Amino acid sequence: MTIKDFNFAGKKAIVRVDFNVPLKEGVITDDTRIRGALPTLKHILNQGGALIIMSHMGKPKGKVKPELSLGQIKNAVAEALGVSEVKFAPDCAKAQEAAANLQMGEVLLLENLRYYPEEEGKPVGIDKEDPAYDAAKKAMKESQKEFAKTLASYADCYVMDAFGTAHRRHASTAVIADYFDADNKMLGFLMEKEVEAVDNVLSNIKRPFVAIMGGSKVSSKIGIIENLLGKVDKLILCGGMTYTFSKAHNGEIGQSIVELDKLDVALDVEKKAKENGVELVLGEDSVCCTSYDFKTFTVNEGAKIEVFPSNAIPAEYEGLDAGPVSAQKFADAIKGAKTILWNGPAGCFECDDFTAGSKAIGDAIAQATAEGAFSLIGGGDSVACCTKFGLTDKVSYISTGGGALLEAIEGKVLPGVAAIKG
Ligand code: 3PG
Repeated sequence: MTIKDFNFAGKKAIVRVDFNVPLKEGVITDDTRIRGALPTLKHILNQGGALIIMSHMGKPKGKVKPELSLGQIKNAVAEALGVSEVKFAPDCAKAQEAAANLQMGEVLLLENLRYYPEEEGKPVGIDKEDPAYDAAKKAMKESQKEFAKTLASYADCYVMDAFGTAHRRHASTAVIADYFDADNKMLGFLMEKEVEAVDNVLSNIKRPFVAIMGGSKVSSKIGIIENLLGKVDKLILCGGMTYTFSKAHNGEIGQSIVELDKLDVALDVEKKAKENGVELVLGEDSVCCTSYDFKTFTVNEGAKIEVFPSNAIPAEYEGLDAGPVSAQKFADAIKGAKTILWNGPAGCFECDDFTAGSKAIGDAIAQATAEGAFSLIGGGDSVACCTKFGLTDKVSYISTGGGALLEAIEGKVLPGVAAIKG
């Protein structure tokens, strides 16, 4: 079933969204994910259905944590939907009455699903080494099914629209689908759009294809880097990863972030790039600083900032952004691309002293997009870069997924998609 073909009139729909939005003192600081779900939610209401919205927020690990209550965003959801009221069920597993009383055109938001350990389905309070672990895991899987069945009992149909969480096989993202027949479960519009965007950079590639991978660690990106080496024409590796590559060639990297146990992985990436005919683009210089506060994103008083070659950074300095030569090199590599994927910034873009590398990348992507490229941006930090540099309307698609996008691009089947499509 597809959301376009389903008739929601007179139906109660339970919709899994990813409203895991960043909050500062209870106020949403980025509502991209809420806006992303609106086409599905409004469509259901406009067709004359009733909405039961469910999501997680943060990682409460099976415990009630008021600071992670979805009650905090109830009014913001009402405003985004343009309805006068969103009802709230303070216990997602005991919402039978609220769901039964829901009238067509009304909206009910369930409390954070992860207040229940059954949502994630992992046994709590027992170590993996414990001999009783396997039995506890089995029991938890049974409780997870019960939990999913309870959620399913609230509605006539199920819509999965939480791309950001589609890489999790949780009660609300996958298991629940077992309790609806094929005609009454479907992906939402956001999921369809995200899956199509991933498809554009995985199967429907227009060349040259340039991928830009940033962020601090090679280890967290190695799966996707390896997968991309078989697909892209150019791979730009930037951000903190730069220094693991420099170190692998015996470079001096000062205090820069490095994964000493991944030096061989870095060399292997270089070797595989060569074997695959992929042009690997690494930074040559870095903007370095002697003292930076990663919590407040500020340069500490009296600290020095200077540009050095990325393999000759003095002992007291740390590389925090791509230098001007690197930034130009990245921009040149992006020029003329027809398919672009960007995940992870080139530096500590939150601080104005270290934005230049990421800005050069963002601007080059915007330029290539204006010239006809398809550009997909994903991962919280690269999306924040686009917002900061005013580029959100100048790229083709901004994904709401972080981990989910990376897994999809690694070629993994997302459980949230498989639950619907089989
Ligand atoms: C995210 O923020 O990436 C999603 O909401 C998934 O959250 P999770 O990594 O806690 O499952």
